[in-house]
Amino acid sequence: MRLVAEAFAKVNRSLLVLGRRPDGFHELDTVFQAVGLTDRLAFEESDALSLRVDDPSVPAGPENLVLRAARLLAEEAGVKARAAIGLEKRIPSGGGLGGGSSDAAVTLLGLSALWGLDAPLETLAEIGARLGSDVPFFLFGGSARGTGRGERIAPLPDLPPKGVVLVMPPFPAATPEVFRRLGAPEWDGRRDDAGSGLPDRNDLEPAAEALFPPLRVVREALAGVGAEQARLSGSGSTVFGLFPDLAAAAEAARRLDGLPVGSAIRVVPTWTREECRFRSGPRRSE
Ligand code: C5P
Repeated sequence: MRLVAEAFAKVNRSLLVLGRRPDGFHELDTVFQAVGLTDRLAFEESDALSLRVDDPSVPAGPENLVLRAARLLAEEAGVKARAAIGLEKRIPSGGGLGGGSSDAAVTLLGLSALWGLDAPLETLAEIGARLGSDVPFFLFGGSARGTGRGERIAPLPDLPPKGVVLVMPPFPAATPEVFRRLGAPEWDGRRDDAGSGLPDRNDLEPAAEALFPPLRVVREALAGVGAEQARLSGSGSTVFGLFPDLAAAAEAARRLDGLPVGSAIRVVPTWTREECRFRSGPRRSE
């Protein structure tokens, strides 16, 4: 049996850092939005566990989140970790788009089907949270609020479909380095629920822009071509612009100017929860 599935990317429409926690992580209040930029994964029956990645710059060793997800799922289910996994990388690593976390989530879904585990989503989300703070979101998709480390997911109503311009600079941003630069105070245990609207804010943005000044140039360029919202995604290095539809996003992307040399630009749609569940769910292939 061979199963295939797509791992989608995310942007953070809002990201509040509430403070540093005793466990070294930061307490967050964030809004994730799924977007249509995808990695492709394939899962085949095999005698052993193996991973082939088409992009040589992506480490395919035991530290790869796909292999860690496979081993952790097998361990939890009490089965042997046996599968030949193929990964076609399209989401840049270190881009703030959650590519590695999404690959891990799709691996949990794919292997759970390949091994006939029938594991409930809540169990996979629990396993996912141990692999990375963003992993549970990718089991839900669409729009969702993430609290805790970002791993506690509450689905939000889908956005009307919008167009997104992703500007991916030619350098990655290391998440721990950006958090360190931020130097957030200890979390006092409070969360502000005063406003009902979505704060147009990413608290990691000033720290990331201090570390990588070209990020601010990109953000201003996106605002300059009329983005409804222009923000850093996660800890970067991707900066996204939100537009009313795909046509407006494509038109704005053509007018972008003065980006860091080597930046990649992609115009993608937002994805609803249903679209995410359908595309990331494993299906049989020849
Ligand atoms: O959970 P994940 O492995 O994605 O986190 C990567 C790193 O990002 C952590 O080791 C930590 O330095 C930082 N992080 C954090 N607070 C969070 C999520 C991530 O400090 N809520």
